[in-house]
Amino acid sequence: MSHAIVELNKLAKAFMDGDQHHQVLDDLDFTLNKADSVALTGASGCGKSTLLNLIAGFESATTGEIKLLDHSTQQWTDKDWSQFRHQQLGVVFQQFNLLTPIDVRHNIVFPLSLNGKKWNDWCDHLVNVLGLKELLSRHVQSLSGGQQQRVAIARALAHQPALLLADEPTGNLDQQASIEVMDLMTKLTTELQTTVLMVTHSEECANYMQRRCHVKQGKIHE
Ligand SMILES: Nc1ncnc2c1ncn2[C@@H]1O[C@H](COP(=O)(O)OP(=O)(O)OP(=O)(O)O)[C@@H](O)[C@H]1O
Ligand SMILES: [Mg+2]
Repeated sequence: MSHAIVELNKLAKAFMDGDQHHQVLDDLDFTLNKADSVALTGASGCGKSTLLNLIAGFESATTGEIKLLDHSTQQWTDKDWSQFRHQQLGVVFQQFNLLTPIDVRHNIVFPLSLNGKKWNDWCDHLVNVLGLKELLSRHVQSLSGGQQQRVAIARALAHQPALLLADEPTGNLDQQASIEVMDLMTKLTTELQTTVLMVTHSEECANYMQRRCHVKQGKIHE
């Protein structure tokens, strides 16, 4: 039995733009094992976000196979995909993507509620580590960028997912806030043994990850 969290075999993704066929990912092989952390770089438009979207099931591959936690996803229904997302996946985006009409506490507990769970000791721990204790009743749109991104990380890790996908999580933050967010995110994912795949353009942020991968001409180079 392998311990692959993500296994991509001969993965390809093309988009049609009018009658133009645009091959974004091509014959791509890639494995992420438990507790791996990978910084994903590559030129704008090379397919980094597309790759994350395929792994999250937000897009479907043209050809090839995606295995998640040793399960082939080829036959997965929408229900299988949402179960995977609710139980095993955390996602952090560049633009915080929080639920704006509700407060910090409810943003954090939301992924747990999808699994029929409630606020627990791990949530208290997240809030303490991320420095959110004083902010729990605040509405997220009243927070600074760095504060919002710390909430987004708490939300992404509340249900203790096996896999965290992060797409330029510090892209909207200044250098000091970026370092703070990376420090805290790395501390928590190390504690949880979460596998992390993070797109970043920042050398400083990439240094927090164990592996470096680069997307070019449809493939991943390590
Ligand atoms: N839904 C879509 N329909 C058509 N083309 C798409 C779609 N999504 C992505 N693409 C195209 O696929 C290519 C890769 O896009 P993607 O967003 O994955 O790039 P990226 O590496 O994340 O770039 P950036 O660093 O700018 O975020 C681009 O040429 C983009 O136009
Ligand atoms: Mg992108």
